[in-house]
Amino acid sequence: MKAIICTKYGPPDVLQLKEVEKPNPKNDEVCIKIHATAVTASDIYIRGSQIPIRFWIPMRIMMGLTKPRKSIIGLVLAGEIESAGKDIKRFRTGDQVYGLTGFSLGAYAEYKCMKETDSTYGCLALKPANISYGEATMVAYGGLLAFQFMGKENIQRGQNVLIYGASGTTGTIAIQYARYLGAKVTGVCSTTNLELVKSLGADSVIDYTKVDTLDPDVHYDFILDAVGKRKTSKLKDACKKALAPGGKYMSIDDGALLLDSNRLALIKELTEAGHIKPIIDRSFQFEEIAEAHRYVEKGHKKGGVVIKVK
Ligand SMILES: NC(=O)c1ccc[n+]([C@@H]2O[C@H](COP(=O)([O-])OP(=O)(O)OC[C@H]3O[C@@H](n4cnc5c(N)ncnc54)[C@H](OP(=O)(O)O)[C@@H]3O)[C@@H](O)[C@H]2O)c1
Repeated sequence: MKAIICTKYGPPDVLQLKEVEKPNPKNDEVCIKIHATAVTASDIYIRGSQIPIRFWIPMRIMMGLTKPRKSIIGLVLAGEIESAGKDIKRFRTGDQVYGLTGFSLGAYAEYKCMKETDSTYGCLALKPANISYGEATMVAYGGLLAFQFMGKENIQRGQNVLIYGASGTTGTIAIQYARYLGAKVTGVCSTTNLELVKSLGADSVIDYTKVDTLDPDVHYDFILDAVGKRKTSKLKDACKKALAPGGKYMSIDDGALLLDSNRLALIKELTEAGHIKPIIDRSFQFEEIAEAHRYVEKGHKKGGVVIKVK
């Protein structure tokens, strides 16, 4: 099978298209014929080993000290079950699935074998039927991140919610999920993305490139930093001070991403009901993956970037 091999940490050119042996599923694994993957912020960190200093040692131990332990990287996939081991109960040949591969990586390939049970090595569920494989990779990654930090325990109907970084893979889903939960939503993004964020349902938008302060009379019950701690602005600092009494501020970097197939099932349900719409910035062919990494590395994708494998 064809796979993108990453044998050392470095710039996008370390990614090489190679012919490698196709994996065979064990009794408790499915073999997925991958139709689409994505270039996520996580893939960029892993390939370039651009890990925040406080996570450097644990991440290098997990990912590989001097080179990636898994030469085929890639965190998110959508495809079709090609074959299933005899102990598999949740899936059948031909099922269309989507999910994350966790520490096992391996989504930058034509085939990937995975267990059907959730663990740090992946989670898998039936893909939303109304969207393409490429779109499914967007809602898998952005949805798992956004849903983990939002949800009914944090957001009640009618509350004021602010999503900082509303135009990325997670932000575009966070805006829509907050709307679905009945919140009054403010999205923070740059000038070029104001219309996109409004179109996703934001009641108001704030341009972090033009505005440094917030209206002192407006307070938020829940604030999600959807781009992570490394991207900041004066406005982000102001957001932290704009909480209503009892309000909560969370960053998507507060705690590890949970790989949860029940959450994937909820994302499927809300996507099929039209509450969550994937936003694709650009799509690339499999062999153009280095170019896709160069594009994502600039840090300004709108929604996400898809890689078509098939
Ligand atoms: N908790 C975990 O385990 C875990 C796992 C994976 C990822 N993460 C976090 O999730 C983040 C990636 O999320 P993502 O892929 O959804 O984001 P993303 O798509 O990479 O975000 C891109 C967007 O960020 C916006 N942006 C760039 N700089 C900004 C700034 N200073 N202020 C506000 N917006 C800014 C850009 O908009 P403009 O072009 O308009 O600037 C662009 O639309 C990672 O960076 C990481 O921190 C956490």
